[in-house]
Amino acid sequence: MVATFKNYRDLSAFAANKIIRLVKHKKNAVLCLAAGDTPALTYHLVVETAKREAISFSEIIFTGLDEWVGIGPDIPGSCYHFLQQKIFGPLGIKKTQIHFFNSMATDLQQECNRINTIIQTVRGIDLALVGIGLNGHVGFNEPGIDPAGSAHVVTLDEVTSIVGQKYFKTNTALSKGITLGMAQIMQAREVLLLAAGTKKAAIIRRTLKEDISNAVPAGFITTHPNGWILLDEEAAAEL
Ligand code: PGA
Repeated sequence: MVATFKNYRDLSAFAANKIIRLVKHKKNAVLCLAAGDTPALTYHLVVETAKREAISFSEIIFTGLDEWVGIGPDIPGSCYHFLQQKIFGPLGIKKTQIHFFNSMATDLQQECNRINTIIQTVRGIDLALVGIGLNGHVGFNEPGIDPAGSAHVVTLDEVTSIVGQKYFKTNTALSKGITLGMAQIMQAREVLLLAAGTKKAAIIRRTLKEDISNAVPAGFITTHPNGWILLDEEAAAEL
């Protein structure tokens, strides 16, 4: 389903409401949340509502979506740091509730295996909230990805390495990522893909108008039975 909202705030309120409703309905839901500029307001609204309505997240399980290889959790710009600031910290989420990639691990393949096992153990993801890269990536599932893949280490697309600088104060070498695979995202019971702003208009056009293939990984989400592409009017401008 594609839903277009008047503005970024309305889009964020819709996504936040989906998370809140799930958490109210399923105390031990498994959430997979993306870092990035786009979901920031969604998380702010989730925190605001959870506090106002005293909604407990104490049994919710969080799985990581992706992380920059070699960028530790304490570094501003890492996906973990972002989520810690925006949602884990403000909601008082315990470390034991969070299953995130350790991108500093010496054996990254073992780290992928660990996360794959956790996702199976928790019986899959209830809700995955993802963004879309300017190249159509989802998590770090870059163009050309194997859609059947599980967690893996990836050499980042040039676009991702360049655009990723926006999260860091100083120039940071970003060459590899570790990410859930497209298949794991597609196996989530519900997927929300958020895109806002004019800079996303061209890739949203490609996502929704081109034949679905790994050239634009976000396109796969349009085939998910509970997949939502949530756009503001600017991101929808070329449709
Ligand atoms: P953004 O990142 O929300 O910061 O635009 C999206 C992404 O690369 O997935």
